[in-house]
Amino acid sequence: MTKYVIKGGRPLQGEITVSGAKNAAVAIIPAALMIDGVCRIENIPQISDVTMLLKILEQMGAKIRTVNKHTVDIDCTGVVTHEATFDTMRRIRASYYLIGALLGRFGKASVAMPGGCNFGGARPIDQHIKGFTAMGAAMDVRNGIVFAETPGRVQGASIYFDINSVGATINIMLAATLAEGRTVIENAAREPHVVDLANFLNSMGADIRGAGTDVIKIKGVKKLTGGFYSIIPDQIEAGTYMAAVAGTGGEVLIKNVIPKHLDCISGKLREMGVEVEDMADAVVVRRRGPLLKTTIKTLPYPGFPTDMQPQISTVLCLADGTSVVTDSVFESRFKYVDELAKMGAQIQVSGRTAIIEGIDRLTGAPVKAGDLRAGAALVIAGLCAGGTTEIEGVNYLERGYEDLVLKLRALGADITEVFVPDDPIVAEREAV
Ligand code: UD1
Repeated sequence: MTKYVIKGGRPLQGEITVSGAKNAAVAIIPAALMIDGVCRIENIPQISDVTMLLKILEQMGAKIRTVNKHTVDIDCTGVVTHEATFDTMRRIRASYYLIGALLGRFGKASVAMPGGCNFGGARPIDQHIKGFTAMGAAMDVRNGIVFAETPGRVQGASIYFDINSVGATINIMLAATLAEGRTVIENAAREPHVVDLANFLNSMGADIRGAGTDVIKIKGVKKLTGGFYSIIPDQIEAGTYMAAVAGTGGEVLIKNVIPKHLDCISGKLREMGVEVEDMADAVVVRRRGPLLKTTIKTLPYPGFPTDMQPQISTVLCLADGTSVVTDSVFESRFKYVDELAKMGAQIQVSGRTAIIEGIDRLTGAPVKAGDLRAGAALVIAGLCAGGTTEIEGVNYLERGYEDLVLKLRALGADITEVFVPDDPIVAEREAV
């Protein structure tokens, strides 16, 4: 088992570069299944969700060539199977994008149900199923596997989502790309990674319009051909470092970002007394004065992202006064609060709302990450806290943050990755 050990209380100073967007990469890699020929993907983040997805494609017959740390060539021409039922599939949420991609390419798909972050509530995929059904696919779920099948090509359809869902928007967009006819998605998600996937597919020959608005129109094409694409920077990774600087104080230049994607986060940080300066493809975050309380409600983009809720709530633990944070996207995303309480945080959760009483200081403690962004929140707490914080559940952080320890150390943080043998007998043997 690996742990992060953080000696907190140091302001962050310096500059870091944000990696490619996890949520764009995990949609674009399955999309490569529909391409005839080689596609080169640049600015791909080196995180475990990406590694696992590339491995899944390889197991299906794709040829993957690593060009450098952030560039891969993917050639799925030789893939002949519509089945992706490996165990690895259950470890990542985005494995369900294989349903849309395989339905588009083969008109059928058998895909293991997704795993990934479990925030505590249910994460249904009824909107995905509803969309595929409207496109003429017979859908069934048996023994944890989703089966989808059409007699020929999937058919374009008009689909209205009852819920604004990133995953359902992306999945239907994938299937619709190679469908027969036109698909219109209404109440579509507008997240930057939805737009990035549309740009990727269009650059490979798709005909998708309106991504970034709540109506996306897709004219099915017969085939996609290879090409080059560079993934957008990660909005949430950038936001996490912004929140970390807000918490610890100091000044950091965060490079390789699209400041527009960060507006929802920058706006809240400014309300909290943090200076955020936008540059062409970077932001400078600076805090010298006290943190101020605020009210936050997570919403689909361009609202405040639910994936930043745990990190910002952690910073608000140190604000002057009482803050209120409501997560309107996920029903139960406050499980990490119990861990923060071990560090002295004063948070009361009622349903989807957390009431956060600001305190002067958090204190280091042994804590455990239960999901990716909860892990990020605990890292921020550890950086701000007096004393030593030990964080278990590092595997969650590795799913979405490239070189987290290296990047934070470059900013002056005292954070180390420590390997702890699970078995006490092994530990004793090693100590001798
Ligand atoms: C994606 C992101 C995740 C982010 C979330 C919200 C990826 C790989 N993951 O997750 O990081 O937190 O968007 O921005 O991009 N819902 C249904 N039925 C469905 C689909 C969704 O009820 O068929 C509900 C969900 O339970 C949730 C809400 O809709 O309450 C939004 O979920 P959705 O946008 O689909 O999230 P994901 O795509 O799973």
